[in-house]
Amino acid sequence: MKVDVFTLFPEWFTWFADQRHVRNARDGGLELDFVDLRATTPLKAGQVDDTPYGGGAGMVIRVDVVEAALRERYGGDPLDHEPGRRVIALAAGGRQFDDALATDLAHATDITVLCGRYEGFDERVNEHLATDVVSIGPYVLAGGELAAMVVCDAVIRKLPGALGHADSALEESFSEALGGAPEYPHYTRPLDWHGHRVPDILLSGHHAEIESWRRAQSAERGSARGARG
Ligand code: ADE
Repeated sequence: MKVDVFTLFPEWFTWFADQRHVRNARDGGLELDFVDLRATTPLKAGQVDDTPYGGGAGMVIRVDVVEAALRERYGGDPLDHEPGRRVIALAAGGRQFDDALATDLAHATDITVLCGRYEGFDERVNEHLATDVVSIGPYVLAGGELAAMVVCDAVIRKLPGALGHADSALEESFSEALGGAPEYPHYTRPLDWHGHRVPDILLSGHHAEIESWRRAQSAERGSARGARG
Protein backbone atom coordinates (compact mmCIF):
# COMPACT_ATOMS: atom_id res chain seq x y z
CA MET A 1 0.00 0.00 0.00
CA LYS A 2 1.11 3.56 -0.71
CA VAL A 3 -0.04 6.36 1.57
CA ASP A 4 0.67 10.02 0.80
CA VAL A 5 -0.26 12.69 3.31
CA PHE A 6 -0.51 16.19 1.85
CA THR A 7 0.01 18.83 4.51
CA LEU A 8 1.37 22.32 5.13
CA PHE A 9 3.35 20.81 8.03
CA PRO A 10 5.14 17.66 6.85
CA GLU A 11 7.60 17.92 9.74
CA TRP A 12 4.79 17.15 12.20
CA PHE A 13 4.86 13.57 10.90
CA THR A 14 8.50 12.83 11.68
CA TRP A 15 7.54 11.49 15.09
CA PHE A 16 4.63 9.49 13.72
CA ALA A 17 6.69 7.85 10.99
CA ASP A 18 9.21 6.72 13.58
CA GLN A 19 6.75 4.73 15.72
CA ARG A 20 7.39 1.00 15.94
CA HIS A 21 4.21 -0.24 14.25
CA VAL A 22 4.64 2.29 11.44
CA ARG A 23 8.25 1.20 10.92
CA ASN A 24 7.12 -2.45 10.98
CA ALA A 25 4.51 -1.74 8.32
CA ARG A 26 7.09 0.09 6.20
CA ASP A 27 9.46 -2.85 6.55
CA GLY A 28 6.55 -5.00 5.34
CA GLY A 29 6.10 -2.90 2.17
CA LEU A 30 4.04 0.15 3.17
CA GLU A 31 5.20 3.27 1.32
CA LEU A 32 4.37 6.31 3.45
CA ASP A 33 5.21 9.83 2.32
CA PHE A 34 4.45 13.33 3.50
CA VAL A 35 4.03 15.92 0.79
CA ASP A 36 4.29 19.67 1.35
CA LEU A 37 1.19 21.31 -0.16
CA ARG A 38 3.05 24.61 -0.39
CA ALA A 39 5.88 23.21 -2.49
CA THR A 40 3.84 23.07 -5.69
CA THR A 41 1.53 26.04 -5.26
CA PRO A 42 0.96 27.89 -8.54
CA LEU A 43 0.57 31.14 -6.55
CA LYS A 44 3.25 33.65 -5.67
CA ALA A 45 5.21 33.64 -2.41
CA GLY A 46 4.02 30.19 -1.36
CA GLN A 47 0.40 31.29 -1.01
CA VAL A 48 -2.02 28.40 -0.51
CA ASP A 49 -5.16 30.00 0.90
CA ASP A 50 -7.49 32.88 0.22
CA THR A 51 -10.35 34.83 1.74
CA PRO A 52 -13.80 33.22 1.54
CA TYR A 53 -16.29 34.38 -1.07
CA GLY A 54 -19.31 35.79 0.72
CA GLY A 55 -17.14 37.14 3.52
CA GLY A 56 -16.54 35.77 6.99
CA ALA A 57 -13.60 35.00 9.20
CA GLY A 58 -10.64 32.85 8.31
CA MET A 59 -8.93 31.64 5.21
CA VAL A 60 -9.76 28.76 2.89
CA ILE A 61 -7.27 26.42 1.17
CA ARG A 62 -7.59 26.92 -2.57
CA VAL A 63 -8.72 24.16 -4.88
CA ASP A 64 -6.11 25.03 -7.53
CA VAL A 65 -3.36 24.58 -4.92
CA VAL A 66 -4.57 21.08 -4.06
CA GLU A 67 -5.05 20.28 -7.74
CA ALA A 68 -1.46 21.33 -8.52
CA ALA A 69 -0.08 19.19 -5.68
CA LEU A 70 -2.00 16.10 -6.85
CA ARG A 71 -1.08 16.69 -10.48
CA GLU A 72 2.62 17.01 -9.62
CA ARG A 73 2.59 13.90 -7.47
CA TYR A 74 0.55 11.57 -9.65
CA GLY A 75 0.54 13.07 -13.14
CA GLY A 76 -2.71 12.94 -15.08
CA ASP A 77 -5.89 14.75 -14.20
CA PRO A 78 -6.81 14.52 -10.49
CA LEU A 79 -10.46 14.86 -11.50
CA ASP A 80 -10.22 11.40 -13.11
CA HIS A 81 -10.11 9.29 -9.99
CA GLU A 82 -7.60 6.46 -10.25
CA PRO A 83 -9.21 3.10 -9.52
CA GLY A 84 -7.87 1.76 -6.21
CA ARG A 85 -6.94 5.20 -4.86
CA ARG A 86 -8.92 6.68 -1.99
CA VAL A 87 -8.51 10.42 -1.65
CA ILE A 88 -9.47 11.38 1.89
CA ALA A 89 -10.11 15.04 2.63
CA LEU A 90 -10.12 15.62 6.38
CA ALA A 91 -12.81 17.98 7.66
CA ALA A 92 -14.72 18.29 10.94
CA GLY A 93 -18.01 18.00 9.08
CA GLY A 94 -17.14 14.83 7.15
CA ARG A 95 -18.29 11.25 7.58
CA GLN A 96 -17.32 10.01 11.02
CA PHE A 97 -14.24 7.77 10.99
CA ASP A 98 -14.79 4.34 12.53
CA ASP A 99 -13.30 0.84 12.54
CA ALA A 100 -15.31 -0.23 9.50
CA LEU A 101 -13.86 2.62 7.45
CA ALA A 102 -10.37 1.87 8.77
CA THR A 103 -10.76 -1.76 7.65
CA ASP A 104 -12.09 -0.66 4.28
CA LEU A 105 -9.12 1.70 3.81
CA ALA A 106 -6.68 -1.01 4.89
CA HIS A 107 -7.76 -2.88 1.73
CA ALA A 108 -7.11 0.06 -0.60
CA THR A 109 -4.11 0.01 -2.89
CA ASP A 110 -3.28 3.68 -2.49
CA ILE A 111 -4.45 6.32 -0.06
CA THR A 112 -4.08 10.07 -0.37
CA VAL A 113 -4.81 12.07 2.76
CA LEU A 114 -5.44 15.80 2.44
CA CYS A 115 -4.95 17.84 5.62
CA GLY A 116 -6.98 21.04 5.81
CA ARG A 117 -5.99 24.12 7.81
CA TYR A 118 -7.64 27.43 8.68
CA GLU A 119 -11.33 27.19 7.67
CA GLY A 120 -10.59 24.03 5.67
CA PHE A 121 -10.68 23.37 1.93
CA ASP A 122 -12.62 25.11 -0.77
CA GLU A 123 -15.70 22.87 -1.05
CA ARG A 124 -14.68 21.90 -4.59
CA VAL A 125 -11.77 19.92 -3.11
CA ASN A 126 -14.25 17.83 -1.12
CA GLU A 127 -16.67 17.49 -4.01
CA HIS A 128 -14.36 16.87 -6.95
CA LEU A 129 -10.87 15.89 -5.83
CA ALA A 130 -11.68 13.73 -2.81
CA THR A 131 -13.36 10.35 -2.84
CA ASP A 132 -14.21 10.63 0.88
CA VAL A 133 -14.57 13.50 3.34
CA VAL A 134 -13.73 12.20 6.78
CA SER A 135 -13.97 13.58 10.31
CA ILE A 136 -12.39 12.00 13.37
CA GLY A 137 -15.10 13.38 15.61
CA PRO A 138 -17.60 16.16 16.21
CA TYR A 139 -15.11 18.81 17.34
CA VAL A 140 -12.92 21.24 15.46
CA LEU A 141 -9.14 20.85 15.34
CA ALA A 142 -6.76 23.57 14.19
CA GLY A 143 -6.01 21.45 11.16
CA GLY A 144 -6.17 17.98 9.68
CA GLU A 145 -2.68 16.83 10.73
CA LEU A 146 -3.68 15.14 13.99
CA ALA A 147 -6.73 13.68 12.25
CA ALA A 148 -4.42 12.32 9.52
CA MET A 149 -2.30 10.63 12.17
CA VAL A 150 -5.42 9.09 13.73
CA VAL A 151 -6.63 7.77 10.38
CA CYS A 152 -3.17 6.53 9.32
CA ASP A 153 -2.59 4.91 12.71
CA ALA A 154 -5.90 3.05 12.67
CA VAL A 155 -5.32 1.86 9.09
CA ILE A 156 -1.61 1.04 9.36
CA ARG A 157 -2.00 -1.11 12.47
CA LYS A 158 -4.29 -3.35 10.42
CA LEU A 159 -1.59 -4.01 7.81
CA PRO A 160 0.23 -7.33 7.96
CA GLY A 161 3.24 -7.24 10.26
CA ALA A 162 2.47 -3.84 11.82
CA LEU A 163 1.63 -5.35 15.21
CA GLY A 164 3.70 -7.96 16.96
CA HIS A 165 0.97 -10.61 16.93
CA ALA A 166 -1.07 -11.30 13.84
CA ASP A 167 -4.13 -11.87 16.04
CA SER A 168 -4.01 -8.64 17.98
CA ALA A 169 -5.90 -6.59 15.41
CA LEU A 170 -8.54 -9.26 14.82
CA GLU A 171 -10.36 -9.44 18.12
CA GLU A 172 -10.33 -5.87 19.25
CA SER A 173 -12.89 -3.20 19.93
CA PHE A 174 -15.41 -2.65 17.12
CA SER A 175 -13.95 -5.47 15.02
CA GLU A 176 -16.13 -7.85 13.01
CA ALA A 177 -14.95 -10.69 15.27
CA LEU A 178 -16.67 -8.96 18.19
CA GLY A 179 -19.75 -8.01 16.21
CA GLY A 180 -18.73 -4.34 16.24
CA ALA A 181 -18.86 -4.18 20.06
CA PRO A 182 -16.11 -2.80 22.31
CA GLU A 183 -13.47 -5.27 23.41
CA TYR A 184 -13.78 -7.41 26.58
CA PRO A 185 -11.72 -6.36 29.63
CA HIS A 186 -8.11 -7.46 30.00
CA TYR A 187 -6.27 -8.23 33.23
CA THR A 188 -2.67 -9.03 34.14
CA ARG A 189 -0.64 -9.29 37.36
CA PRO A 190 -1.06 -8.60 40.23
CA LEU A 191 -3.91 -11.04 40.79
CA ASP A 192 -5.15 -9.04 43.76
CA TRP A 193 -4.75 -5.26 43.71
CA HIS A 194 -6.05 -3.52 46.85
CA GLY A 195 -8.73 -6.22 47.12
CA HIS A 196 -9.79 -5.90 43.48
CA ARG A 197 -9.28 -9.39 42.11
CA VAL A 198 -9.00 -10.64 38.58
CA PRO A 199 -12.28 -12.48 37.69
CA ASP A 200 -11.98 -16.16 38.68
CA ILE A 201 -13.12 -17.35 35.25
CA LEU A 202 -9.85 -16.09 33.74
CA LEU A 203 -7.89 -18.33 36.12
CA SER A 204 -10.03 -21.39 35.43
CA GLY A 205 -8.13 -22.67 32.42
CA HIS A 206 -11.47 -23.44 30.65
CA HIS A 207 -10.81 -21.87 27.28
CA ALA A 208 -14.34 -22.27 25.94
CA GLU A 209 -15.85 -20.72 29.07
CA ILE A 210 -13.32 -17.88 29.03
CA GLU A 211 -14.20 -17.26 25.41
CA SER A 212 -17.92 -17.12 26.11
CA TRP A 213 -17.37 -14.88 29.18
CA ARG A 214 -15.35 -12.51 26.99
CA ARG A 215 -18.05 -12.43 24.30
CA ALA A 216 -20.68 -11.71 26.94
CA GLN A 217 -18.57 -8.90 28.46
CA SER A 218 -18.02 -7.40 25.04
CA ALA A 219 -21.75 -7.58 24.18
CA GLU A 220 -22.67 -6.07 27.57
CA ARG A 221 -20.29 -3.16 27.01
CA GLY A 222 -21.74 -2.73 23.54
CA SER A 223 -25.30 -2.47 24.82
CA ALA A 224 -24.24 -0.20 27.72
CA ARG A 225 -22.65 2.15 25.20
CA GLY A 226 -25.76 2.03 23.05
CA ALA A 227 -27.97 2.79 26.06
CA ARG A 228 -25.84 5.81 26.97
CA GLY A 229 -26.18 6.97 23.37
N1 ADE B 1 -10.09 19.27 10.75
C1 ADE B 1 -10.56 20.04 11.76
N2 ADE B 1 -11.30 19.33 12.62
C2 ADE B 1 -11.31 18.04 12.15
C3 ADE B 1 -11.91 16.84 12.58
N3 ADE B 1 -12.67 16.79 13.69
N4 ADE B 1 -11.71 15.73 11.86
C4 ADE B 1 -10.97 15.78 10.72
N5 ADE B 1 -10.38 16.88 10.26
C5 ADE B 1 -10.54 18.01 10.96
